[in-house]
Amino acid sequence: WERIGDLVILPGSSLRSELWKSLGSPLWKIIAECLGVTKVARQGPVASTGTRDSGVEMLLGEDGWVEHRENAILYCFDATKCMFSSGNVTERSRMGELNCDNDVIVDLFAGIGYFVLPFLVRARAKHVYACEWNPHALYALRRNLRASAVEKRCTVIEGDNRLTAPREVADRVCLGLLPSSEGSWAVAVRALKSGGGILHVHENIKDVEEEDWIEYLTKSLQTLANAQGS
Ligand SMILES: C[S@@+](CC[C@H](N)C(=O)[O-])C[C@H]1O[C@@H](n2cnc3c(N)ncnc32)[C@H](O)[C@@H]1O
Repeated sequence: WERIGDLVILPGSSLRSELWKSLGSPLWKIIAECLGVTKVARQGPVASTGTRDSGVEMLLGEDGWVEHRENAILYCFDATKCMFSSGNVTERSRMGELNCDNDVIVDLFAGIGYFVLPFLVRARAKHVYACEWNPHALYALRRNLRASAVEKRCTVIEGDNRLTAPREVADRVCLGLLPSSEGSWAVAVRALKSGGGILHVHENIKDVEEEDWIEYLTKSLQTLANAQGS
């Protein structure tokens, strides 16, 4: 199980047998009490659609709203609507440890601020353009920016990043979409300043395919940059 704020999320397959079901809601109350939370939910698959909706199902608690603190950053969101990958803690932490003092950053898949907040709060980025199209994530993102008092250094851009992303402004572009962000590689190259910059490209790949993928990525980016005359 994982704990996010005041919510414990059980694995998707847990406590599903008829015997457990027959115990009804007292079971969830006991679990909540033992683990020191007020809300209990069960994990479900993240939607494979572009909005990456959460599959979390509430078992105890009125709603899925959580306030989760990680590495001194507060993430607030509705866990039944927006996904939160506890396993990505290392990458969220790594982004916060970068030195982005004078950097303008474009995050093409901002979500609730998974990387936007570490960039602004801990890495001290000069400005972040945060692209996002899921209304639930946009609501949480704006709240989270205000809660960390960094909203003045962030421009939230609503809509499909392939149509809305800014051009030639960025020192870094973040492409945090799984299983692949390839659909927005061209947009990312266009978003970089004409002198170049850094791309953070996320992708699900098997260990044994890593070298081939890096070669494919490098060639693709080179082709895109050539096509754009950079
Ligand atoms: C949930 S985060 C990704 C978190 C984590 N890296 C992962 O994928 O497991 C990805 C966000 O990108 C947004 N998104 C996906 N495609 C988009 C697009 N073309 N334009 C704007 N936002 C997009 C989704 O709505 C979602 O909130």
